[in-house]
Amino acid sequence: MTTADIRRTLKDATRIAVLTGAGISAASGVPTFRGDDGLWRNFRAQDLATPDAYRQNPQLVWEWYQMRFNAVMNVQPNAAHLALANLEKGCEDFTLITQNVDGLHQRAGSDNVFELHGNLTQARCEACGEVVVLEAHFPLPPPCPACRAPMRPNVVWFGEMLPEHAFEAGVDAFNRAEVALIIGTSAVVEPAASLGRIAAQAGAFVIEINPDRTPLTMFADVTLRMDAVTGMAQLLG
Ligand code: OAD
Repeated sequence: MTTADIRRTLKDATRIAVLTGAGISAASGVPTFRGDDGLWRNFRAQDLATPDAYRQNPQLVWEWYQMRFNAVMNVQPNAAHLALANLEKGCEDFTLITQNVDGLHQRAGSDNVFELHGNLTQARCEACGEVVVLEAHFPLPPPCPACRAPMRPNVVWFGEMLPEHAFEAGVDAFNRAEVALIIGTSAVVEPAASLGRIAAQAGAFVIEINPDRTPLTMFADVTLRMDAVTGMAQLLG
């Protein structure tokens, strides 16, 4: 299949589903999790990203999320985020499922976005369910504006369930998609990675963009072995 054929397949698709991971934000300067400079090379997930870790040391966990919040506030969406926002504008049925918690897809202008792992620019009250958007220099922990209880980061930790509506939206979108795009994810975290397999099994044309091989590569009709910015430019022409 030539590049022109792939572009036409994408251009002609009326139903597109996209799964993104940390790799799409790499060009913005947001670290991935499992690369050479990945977060999980320098930090232990079990100390920072589990309900137990938070119970034992909420201050430490909040400091880590505040550090990442500050970093995300200082970066911009990149050309790959913007390309996806543009692709959505011309497509009748477009769903973007992201594992990222950085909010960059929304800042790039994407509308129909579902966050499987939450959003680190928000806090959530475990007592009353209130969710707030964090402002610069927020106190640790931020107090709930509704009930004054300490709030937690609005993210999904290891061992927690995904937000049901987000995962269901993903399953629906990947089941009905004509084209599925899998961008910048190592595809080792479930059930997020299962969306790629669902699309392949349902007969979608699956395009993966990733500099490295992943467990979803074998389900892809086309793999662009390149970074997300170059890959999206190649796809959109
Ligand atoms: P990973 O860090 O596991 O994988 C990032 C992927 O992006 C790798 O496959 C890289 O090859 C690829 N990559 C690196 N640079 C890239 C670039 N410039 N363009 C495109 N791809 C690039 O990140 P995720 O797959 O997102 O979960 O990780 C999934 C989940 O594991 C995260 O949501 C997080 C983490 O633990 C939780 O915290 C619950």
